Amino acid sequence: MATSTTVALLLGIFASVACASANTLQNNSNSKFHPVAKTCGPSTAKIACVYRYGTLLPPSFSRDQLPTVGYTGTLVPDDPSWNLVVDADFVIFDEKRGLEVLGAAPTIQKKYIDVLNVIHEAPIYVPDLNKLFVTQDGPPGNLSNLVIDLNYDPPTVASFVTDPPVYQPTGGILHDNMIYWAIQGNNVSLPNGLKQRPGVVRVDPKTLKAEWLINNFYGFFFGGLNDLTVDPNGDIWFTDSDYAFGLGLADNSNQLQLATYRFRPSTGEINVVDTSLEHPNGIVFSRDGKTVYISDTGLETVGPVASKGAYDYPIRIYFTSTLARNIYAFDVNYTPKGAYLTGKRSIFQSLEGSPDGLKVAANGYLVVGSGLSNGADILDGDGSLIARIQTDHPVENVAFTGKDLKTVFLTGIGGITRVQWNLTGPDPNKFFV
Ligand SMILES: *[C@@H]1O[C@H](CO)[C@@H](O)[C@H](O)[C@H]1NC(C)=O
Ligand SMILES: *[C@@H]1O[C@H](CO)[C@@H](O)[C@H](O)[C@H]1NC(C)=O
Ligand SMILES: *[C@@H]1O[C@H](CO)[C@@H](O)[C@H](O)[C@H]1NC(C)=O
Ligand SMILES: *[C@@H]1O[C@H](CO)[C@@H](O)[C@H](O)[C@H]1NC(C)=O
Repeated sequence: MATSTTVALLLGIFASVACASANTLQNNSNSKFHPVAKTCGPSTAKIACVYRYGTLLPPSFSRDQLPTVGYTGTLVPDDPSWNLVVDADFVIFDEKRGLEVLGAAPTIQKKYIDVLNVIHEAPIYVPDLNKLFVTQDGPPGNLSNLVIDLNYDPPTVASFVTDPPVYQPTGGILHDNMIYWAIQGNNVSLPNGLKQRPGVVRVDPKTLKAEWLINNFYGFFFGGLNDLTVDPNGDIWFTDSDYAFGLGLADNSNQLQLATYRFRPSTGEINVVDTSLEHPNGIVFSRDGKTVYISDTGLETVGPVASKGAYDYPIRIYFTSTLARNIYAFDVNYTPKGAYLTGKRSIFQSLEGSPDGLKVAANGYLVVGSGLSNGADILDGDGSLIARIQTDHPVENVAFTGKDLKTVFLTGIGGITRVQWNLTGPDPNKFFV
């Protein structure tokens, strides 16, 4: 009895304190709310600086929970400054570091390169050729990918087919001047009797000769590799997903759980290093190799029937907004037999879509595609949001290009956007420092 009275009294005190502070903030008008955004930075692009991460808005705000409704789809009727965010090319959350990322004269060219209305992924910059290789997820049966020649202004775009043809690569990296592709296509009725299962392929960017390194797990098909990267030991890490079936790019639905694998090219051995993510997707190491970042697009589920999607390609992806849209960081522990992971932690929850392909900048910042939403986020290595780029097409992945590695191409559905700014990419020939 005595105890519950005390609790009731305490609750009463807390309630009146909470009431008082709410009154102070809201008090019948919204004039007590600091405007969420202001114009800031150089005038070469539309830039909005957001006050205190926008985490206190006039309570009339709302947002559709459909993950394809981006951050700018938030409605903030009682704060006209929100329109600055909606219209911005770049949104800054951390003013000092964000304006440094943009530099003196940031520019953006939205839909700089016109592409098919399918997902574009695996942008891989080959500095020796000054070319950017980009893959396309679909349409079903299509064996072509794109190469953007940056030696021309404007760049030229051509489609290419490797020798032999490779069906539906979706992630990749440049390593020792070779392209390593994560392949999701699973199709035994390709043209000219070509048959293929998902796996890892190495492509010489100069000759376009392709060589398969792995295509099964002890007789099981992979669901469709989504992304890959290479660790300081030379082991290849890849995520296996189930998008290929939902996109109509795989004959079979998954036989194995979604997981992250480590593959040792010198012996052929593969091991599963993580099974804890709902939908493992993009994967990158930090520049010291001590951390691996894996994005989880858990809120997307592939299904047998086309859903209300963001575009008209027969994409069969459902959204459950209460599932994961996170980037996880893990500690990487090296042993002669290969590295293992500990210390899983969520470092970022996406503000829109779900975190898809991601890349590490020279200084360790992450640039993360928003998946089926329009834009990319810039985080520090601990997952603090610094800024974002706003596009007019969904962004699946990004690549640093050019001699100074300060031009970023954002590849997505129905467009490739170009950004020129002050954030430098890592040396493509020497990633680990
Ligand atoms: C809140 O509004 C009431 C009624 O208009 C007014 O009396 C009070 O002073 C206001 N309080 C603050 C903190 O503005
Ligand atoms: C560009 O970035 C560098 C750090 O890489 C920084 O020192 C410099 O101040 C930035 N430039 C601008 C104009 O912010
Ligand atoms: C397999 O390839 C054929 C021939 O190009 C194409 O018609 C079919 O849609 C493809 N199926 C899948 C599941 O990729
Ligand atoms: C296949 O993709 C290439 C490269 O984007 C494109 O030029 C071609 O039209 C596509 N073919 C079909 C049948 O969609």
